[in-house]
Amino acid sequence: MDFKNSVPDRIQEIKNTIGEERAISALSGGVDSSACTVLAHKAIGDNLKSIFIDDGLMREGEPQQVQGIFADLGIKVDIVDAADEFFAALKGLIDPELKRKAFRNTFYSVFGREVKNSGARYLIQGTIAADIIETKGGIKTQHNILEQIGIDPEAGYGYKVVEPIKDLFKPGVREVAEAVGLPEEIHQRMPFPGPGLATRVVGEVTPERVARVRKATTIVEQEILHLKPFQAFAVLLSDMGTGVEDGKRKFGDIVIVRSVESKDAMTAEPSHVPWEVLQKVAGRIVTEIPQVVRVAYELTPKPPATIEYI
Ligand code: XMP
Repeated sequence: MDFKNSVPDRIQEIKNTIGEERAISALSGGVDSSACTVLAHKAIGDNLKSIFIDDGLMREGEPQQVQGIFADLGIKVDIVDAADEFFAALKGLIDPELKRKAFRNTFYSVFGREVKNSGARYLIQGTIAADIIETKGGIKTQHNILEQIGIDPEAGYGYKVVEPIKDLFKPGVREVAEAVGLPEEIHQRMPFPGPGLATRVVGEVTPERVARVRKATTIVEQEILHLKPFQAFAVLLSDMGTGVEDGKRKFGDIVIVRSVESKDAMTAEPSHVPWEVLQKVAGRIVTEIPQVVRVAYELTPKPPATIEYI
């Protein structure tokens, strides 16, 4: 199928569903929600309110960067600072599925509030086909899948969810995103999970631990992105290891560097990152993040591992 040519039908379907009502778009800046936001803006114009929830789990400077890109497209994006709420919900949680559920519940209650305040009846969401398959298969709980797993968002949260690209896998989404005029930095953007850096912190998700993995992620992106991996990022483990500093033993953090090649995220292979690049990444991480004493590169394909760590 030609995904570009599906754009007018997708716009028309959003128009038919939402009519003259107001809708809110849950924009994260990833290719999925960005494509949906532009489709919805084309469908209902100013009846769309685009909101970026700053959950405190984004990469460096991401909220402002996304706001700027959409401003260039004539789409106003409101940033809602909800970091404290997310960290409160995640406090003390270690189990990956409990963390995902806490994220999901917070995400929906923050958005539910915004939707109610705005008078919107609909939430536009960038769910894609892989999200649905993996959640139905019990591989993991995605945060954006209420309807597929039998939870009625209207009864539970007071609004309806519209998912304009739920039939597409990533390559199709990229085509649609390009066709609606999004810049390359969005339509070729690496996937970034809904629960953000929380998927890359093993153990408790605290502001301090997120800050550490955020710095490591910036370093990984600066050094590896030019190799054009499907995804490259850093992970903070909950185990610690011994290092030496100024002749003294020091018990510190362990960071995993993960870079994978994939077409649709259903399977993945570790990237062949040159040794020199990995050494540079490791050197920068231990120098620039003093709590970290060890860095390892992950070699596991998917399956059996997943791409993210929780
Ligand atoms: P896994 O870790 O399951 O990830 O191999 C497959 C792809 O999905 C992304 N991912 C998510 N995306 N919400 C999302 O929107 C999530 O909860 C989520 N978990 C994983 C992951 O980055 C990879 O591209």
